[in-house]
Amino acid sequence: MKALIIGASGQIGGTLAALCVRRRIEVYGTSRKGQGFLYLDLADPVSIKDAFEKSTPDLVLLCSAMTHVDNCERDPELARKVNAAGPALVAEECRRAGSKLVYFSTEYVFDGTSGPYGEGDPVNPVSVYGRTKLEGERAALGLKGALAVRTTVVYSHNPASKNFIMQLISNHRSKAAMRVPSDQFSNPTYAADLAAAVLDLAEKDASGIYNVVGPDWLSRYDFALKACAAFGFDPAFLEPKLTAELGQAALRPLKAGLKTEKLARKLGRGLPPADDSLRKIAGIIKQYE
Ligand SMILES: NC(=O)c1ccc[n+]([C@@H]2O[C@H](COP(=O)([O-])OP(=O)(O)OC[C@H]3O[C@@H](n4cnc5c(N)ncnc54)[C@H](OP(=O)(O)O)[C@@H]3O)[C@@H](O)[C@H]2O)c1
Repeated sequence: MKALIIGASGQIGGTLAALCVRRRIEVYGTSRKGQGFLYLDLADPVSIKDAFEKSTPDLVLLCSAMTHVDNCERDPELARKVNAAGPALVAEECRRAGSKLVYFSTEYVFDGTSGPYGEGDPVNPVSVYGRTKLEGERAALGLKGALAVRTTVVYSHNPASKNFIMQLISNHRSKAAMRVPSDQFSNPTYAADLAAAVLDLAEKDASGIYNVVGPDWLSRYDFALKACAAFGFDPAFLEPKLTAELGQAALRPLKAGLKTEKLARKLGRGLPPADDSLRKIAGIIKQYE
């Protein structure tokens, strides 16, 4: 099998690429920069076509997006181009090539008034990021057999990534205070566990929407405390704040998070608890100190 990972330079795409190699799946990765990648810009239709011609994929994992939620709010036109129009072009290329499409979606399709949410719950995004990702999800699902994976608060030990756990480690190291929302509830998701579940779903030819998130439903502040306990950090640098106090450009879904019964039925398992992955990350931190 040949896989094309669109956005292999990112946190989830990079984790998937490493797992594909371990599973002996031939893999091509894309980025707009950097060596060893096929060039692909979701805002540039010709580059999408070229990447498909060069890779002739059986499986396409669409991880690329404009992921900075506040930048999407500031530049909705670019966000729509990258997050909505881009996936529609990718779906069209998949249709032509006969490739299976896996699209990475988000809990931000919900307004966060009554989470955690099941796959069938009514959507109501409250930000440009959420609205454009939902448009992208719908474009992807317009392709027969496509799989849309909704996930959230993805973390890993990856020095190239600015994920929540890397920000926490960096602030702790530099002794900088870290303002953490105490009123955003969600399910932190370890990138390696997400990648394994997504490849398993693809291998089972799952289609439609699947929530793929960790089992812990907690506030961002409580997650930060959990991480500090696992890493042996004094949590004094954490400052709990209400989201409204953070002055962010985009609204956030507050009581969000996702339910995973459908995933458990399909795979016969859910994702492991955050304590397991935080323990693994604690081991990596110790190695480097
Ligand atoms: N991380 C989370 O907590 C989370 C939660 C829910 C959903 N998701 C979804 O999961 C996917 C992957 O997230 P991630 O955490 O891996 O994100 P990330 O680390 O921010 O990576 C984003 C990727 O998108 C690529 N990209 C950005 N703009 C692009 C463009 N115009 N054309 C082509 N590629 C572009 C980047 O590649 P280059 O800059 O190298 O081109 C990079 O590979 C996204 O679709 C995101 O919406 C993530």
